[in-house]
Amino acid sequence: PHTTSLDSLLHAMAQQTASVFRPDLMKGKVAFVTGGGSGICYGITKQLMAHGANAAIFGRRKANVESAAQELSKETGSKCIGISGDVRKIETLEAAVKQTIEEFGRIDFVIAGAAGNFLAPLDGLSSNAFRTVLEIDTLGTFNTFKSTIDELVKTKGSLIAISATLHYTGMPLQAHVSAAKAGVDAFIRAVAVEYGPRGVRANCIAPGPIAGTEGMDRLMPKELVDKHTSMIPLQRYGSIDDIAWTALFLFSPAASYVTGTVSIVDGGDWHMSGAIGGAPYPDAFSGAGEAPTSKL
Ligand code: HXC
Repeated sequence: PHTTSLDSLLHAMAQQTASVFRPDLMKGKVAFVTGGGSGICYGITKQLMAHGANAAIFGRRKANVESAAQELSKETGSKCIGISGDVRKIETLEAAVKQTIEEFGRIDFVIAGAAGNFLAPLDGLSSNAFRTVLEIDTLGTFNTFKSTIDELVKTKGSLIAISATLHYTGMPLQAHVSAAKAGVDAFIRAVAVEYGPRGVRANCIAPGPIAGTEGMDRLMPKELVDKHTSMIPLQRYGSIDDIAWTALFLFSPAASYVTGTVSIVDGGDWHMSGAIGGAPYPDAFSGAGEAPTSKL
């Protein structure tokens, strides 16, 4: 029988509580994570730390990053420091990198995850609103790269930028974010080719709809969640751990030949964006009208 979006997500999460990765996979490594105070990047940091890494998380709200860092340290037994700053201002990142090196001595993994998003039609979008999102997402990714790259060259480390799938099609109300994320993808490809010879890998992760984040709760109207879920090939929203597992893979030696890529983690969601009239997936595509069950 067709399950609700919540049922299928809970089912998936129950199957995922145990990591398939070695517990000490990231031991001795240090991660620097922008946007790590909440949402997807908090979750990635938590799994890196649960697998032995120490971390610095960077975000705008001082109280928030500091309490998040405490919580992460307590939950994982590894060490995390919280540093406040704004990715639009490179000097705040440079100071944070200095502090991270003083604390941990090295940086192996960088996540450019700080993002800005709101829904706005083009006729309600000011020049400053467009600039604001480009500055957080695209310039912020460049600033994060710029202030950490020397450390990554030293450790032969790896950079992941958090992208999206919404710019693959013409997503309404997201022109500003689409332009910004397309820039992130293109930028990461350039980093991969210029820094590959120096031993640094750079990739993007493009999350699809991920449940349990403030961004998703704010941007996705609740009444659309069940219909949207029924259109996703894997029949559920993703969990934050779905993204974290991909980050662990990309940072691990298993991905040592992987650079300049975008790992799309969306249950197949964006391939369905052309479905005619928004027809729910089971009715439109499973023949007899029987809903396909999740293979998880
Ligand atoms: C139109 C808007 C607007 C809106 C802000 N602006 N919200 N325009 N519709 N809903 C305009 C403002 O009017 C202003 O333009 C300009 O944007 C800058 O706004 P500020 O509030 O001054 O900027 P700032 O304080 O820097 O805040 C940045 C922000 C804010 C992006 C607007 O929302 C923020 O800080 N967000 C951080 C958290 C976040 O968004 N995370 C989302 C990640 S989720 P004017 O012309 O008036 O000066 C994600 C993926 C979700 O990215 C995928 C779902 C599909």
